Amino acid sequence: MKSHKKIRWGIIGPGKIAHKFAEGLSYVNNAELYAVASRSNERAQAFAKQYRILQVYDSYESLVRDANVDVVYVATTNNMHYEQVKLCLEHGKACLCEKPFTCRAEELEELITMARAKNVFLMEAMWTRFLPSIISVDERIQHNEIGEILRVESNFGFTTEYDPNSRIYNPDLGGGALLDIGIYPVFFALHFLGMPVHIETDAIITELGVDSENNMVFYYDNSVKAELSSSFIQDLPCTATIYGTKGTITFERMWHCPTKIMKTVDGHEYDITPEYRGNGYNYEIEEVCNCLASEKKESLLMLLSESLQRQEILDKIQSFWNLKNEK
Ligand SMILES: NC(=O)c1ccc[n+]([C@@H]2O[C@H](COP(=O)([O-])OP(=O)(O)OC[C@H]3O[C@@H](n4cnc5c(N)ncnc54)[C@H](OP(=O)(O)O)[C@@H]3O)[C@@H](O)[C@H]2O)c1
Repeated sequence: MKSHKKIRWGIIGPGKIAHKFAEGLSYVNNAELYAVASRSNERAQAFAKQYRILQVYDSYESLVRDANVDVVYVATTNNMHYEQVKLCLEHGKACLCEKPFTCRAEELEELITMARAKNVFLMEAMWTRFLPSIISVDERIQHNEIGEILRVESNFGFTTEYDPNSRIYNPDLGGGALLDIGIYPVFFALHFLGMPVHIETDAIITELGVDSENNMVFYYDNSVKAELSSSFIQDLPCTATIYGTKGTITFERMWHCPTKIMKTVDGHEYDITPEYRGNGYNYEIEEVCNCLASEKKESLLMLLSESLQRQEILDKIQSFWNLKNEK
């Protein structure tokens, strides 16, 4: 790491989420938004002006070649992640990539192998993992506040206009409810329960071959299960609940964002909402900056092996719908 104090970030793909990321970054003391690259010079310039970014590139390669960039945030459509993370790694650049990491587990496996061979930091931007909500609930579960987990429920759904060309519906851009938003309920189940022994799932598939809605049940030993769903055609409650032998913990609406958390034990409800800072994206950015400052090549909170397991589960689920052949 160079001698300058702040970690210098470059953004590839200044679209919708990149704006939230840039806002989040402004809350992080040891981070500086230094460069942006877009295929469109106009888009890059407008983004740079809004966030006072010094370096503007109209090619991704120019950004990764900039020796002053410490870490690249890949915020393009899902189909592009594999190629662009590879570009970063080829140039020895640390990289934070939006979820889902890639569209196939085998692509991610290749990227992880490459990052390790080149000794370069790599992480998936599963921002929810770093929120105080998840961190504080982890602690409560470890302290046995709701007993052993028997079941989890998690859903994420909203109605959208059907546009086959949009990022979320176009298979060529890595569309589908599972990859776009279903990854959050899948994360929730894997985080609190680990890998399932058996999965049952069904989905509504569009004419172009992506899911517009899905339901999944993950089965575990001792009758433990996770009931998960995501949808582009139904307004789901967007809540997540952990049912334990002694009580329950509920993440209220927009559970994957900073939100209210309630615990119920013996019929008594407790508000256990932790304190939040910033817009929520700052937590994952802080984690990356801290890892880089201490020369770590992987976050212990978001292991590459966890991302790979999640990606394998996403592949498996899609293979049940005959959308993808499992490796
Ligand atoms: N963490 C979260 O909360 C969250 C929320 C929403 C989305 N996401 C993830 O963030 C990523 C981007 O989502 P977004 O909503 O920000 O997307 P977006 O605004 O539609 O596009 C982001 C960037 O992707 C590139 N792009 C767009 N359409 C493309 C196309 N047809 N072909 C090639 N590149 C294209 C563009 O890069 P150029 O400017 O270089 O052309 C664009 O600036 C996705 O992976 C998504 O899953 C995460």
